[in-house]
Amino acid sequence: MYRTKTCGELRLSDVGQTVTLAGWVQSVHNLGALTFIDLRDRYGITQLAFTEDSSEELKKQAAKLGREFVIQATGKVEERYSKNKNLPTGEIEILVSELTIINESLTPPFTIEENSDGGDDLRMKYRYLDLRRPTVRQNLELRHKFAFEVRRYLDEHGFLEIETPVLVNSTPEGARDFVVPSRMNPGQFYALPQSPQTLKQLLMVAGMDRYFQIVKCFRDEDLRADRQPEFTQIDCEMSFVEQEDILQMFEGMSRHLFKTIKGIDIPALPRMTWADAMKFYGSDKPDTRFGMKFVELKTTQVDNASKEIVPSIFPEGFAVFDSAAYIGAICAEGQAVYTRKQLDQLTDFVKRPQVGAKGLVYARVQEDGSVKSSVDKFYTPETLNLLKEKMSAKPGDLILILSGDDAMKVRKQLSELRLEMGARMGLRDKNKYSCLWVIDFPMYEWSDEENRLMAMHHPFTSPKPEDIPLLDTDPASVRANAYDMVINGVEVGGGSIRIHDAKLQQKIFEILGFTPEQAQQKFGFLMNAFKYGAPPHGGLAYGLDRFVSLFAGLDSIRDCIAFPKNNSGRDVMLDAPGVIDQTQLDELCIDVKLPSTK
Ligand code: AMO
Repeated sequence: MYRTKTCGELRLSDVGQTVTLAGWVQSVHNLGALTFIDLRDRYGITQLAFTEDSSEELKKQAAKLGREFVIQATGKVEERYSKNKNLPTGEIEILVSELTIINESLTPPFTIEENSDGGDDLRMKYRYLDLRRPTVRQNLELRHKFAFEVRRYLDEHGFLEIETPVLVNSTPEGARDFVVPSRMNPGQFYALPQSPQTLKQLLMVAGMDRYFQIVKCFRDEDLRADRQPEFTQIDCEMSFVEQEDILQMFEGMSRHLFKTIKGIDIPALPRMTWADAMKFYGSDKPDTRFGMKFVELKTTQVDNASKEIVPSIFPEGFAVFDSAAYIGAICAEGQAVYTRKQLDQLTDFVKRPQVGAKGLVYARVQEDGSVKSSVDKFYTPETLNLLKEKMSAKPGDLILILSGDDAMKVRKQLSELRLEMGARMGLRDKNKYSCLWVIDFPMYEWSDEENRLMAMHHPFTSPKPEDIPLLDTDPASVRANAYDMVINGVEVGGGSIRIHDAKLQQKIFEILGFTPEQAQQKFGFLMNAFKYGAPPHGGLAYGLDRFVSLFAGLDSIRDCIAFPKNNSGRDVMLDAPGVIDQTQLDELCIDVKLPSTK
């Protein structure tokens, strides 16, 4: 037997027992007559002690030990002289009587401790060592528990876990596909699924009624902190349901997860229309842990977010506002103390290319209630007072205003500013959770790149029944039966009620610019299946990595993935992607032409 106990379980009540432990040497402390070793395994750390009375042989063995050696130690559990309150096993130590070096180790390239001295790249290259650190390991433990509770909840509600293939055809989720050449079909490629969307719909046609799968999805898109090229979805679909059934079922799942994993009772999820989310937060995934809602001070355009024109509160005089199609503002409570320097920093923040605003107008409400602004020379105190009223601003508050000629663009800029202010003001507490459903997404969004309407969710999403007549007259204003679950400004999941009628599906493809032949070629398998009795159905998919990261309070989903890719999509440990042999290329009929590097 390699061990009788783990390194995390011995307590004062075990004193006197003889035990055998096995694990890795975390550290060696040589104090002359005494040597202490911290022995680590997945379960914790236990101190091993060698004293003056230890045999010479044992002392010799102990002197050979280095960090990360794998050893086995047998000895008696004793009460520790100086206790370590920070360690669950900190009241005891093992007085070693037998020591075996099972395997030696090179000196690790970074310290394997809570706060490692290794940079990101180094830790990724030696990910198996990084994973020995308790923080990273705990994230994987949490991920396991999360997936386990998902399975428990869905099983209790009659969902079947069904696997779908990984070698498929292109699935239209809006990103680029990763493709795999087929040796047996020269010149042809499989695509890795961006999601099992069409397959789960076919499972509904097949009568499976309730499906789920914890499944890898692949998207070749630009990477960010919350995006990986391969990530995991909790993919779900149900038959004979309406939107309300789905929202209830999955609100229940979130409640179950919060309760069993975090011990938190979450309140019923509020529902916000996409239009309100955009109008008041400038984002379809609003962080509702704090307020600071937008106030529209001028809108000259009616769009999907603002259904009415708002005349400007500012009389003519300041060219930037005069020519703007939209002026919006937020009120940062108690921030009038912001110095000129801090305001300049904020201005630089909104002018960064990632945000893209032209400038920032601010107004401080002074202690006496008067308003001091960066546009004082253009407006009378009465106008500034009106601004204060519109913003419901109190003495000590700071009003921040953005404007521009494209309302949606300005809303998104103002959203960035709101999030930045929320962070600066400490309002984005990772231990606080604010969940909601965003509903009634538009069916389509205009793509300048493609010069056509694109499906906002995906082309299988059904329109809201009352908006179907608008498909012919004003498709851009049609709302979808689609919903996202948003937690703390993160889209953790999204889905929709699907179209189950082949004719309506055909029409949607037409609006998306597919000819009937193209639609048949790409999605014929689905439309044909719909001709054989498709039940009404709908579903959603959660991003497992994102949900777990939220629970773990992580800034990047990478930290809850055992072997993630870096920002260039590389696995630096495996050194993938890599080149393959010419013979392999020949077999696949692939002629690689690299772009010239001038
Ligand atoms: P969607 O594209 O919204 O919907 O994806 C569902 C959820 O998956 C997560 N997600 C990602 N997580 C990490 N890295 C990525 N690159 C990434 N892309 C998406 C998000 C997102 O909410 N088939 C539909 C679902 C449906 O309609 O049922 C779909 O895939 O958390």
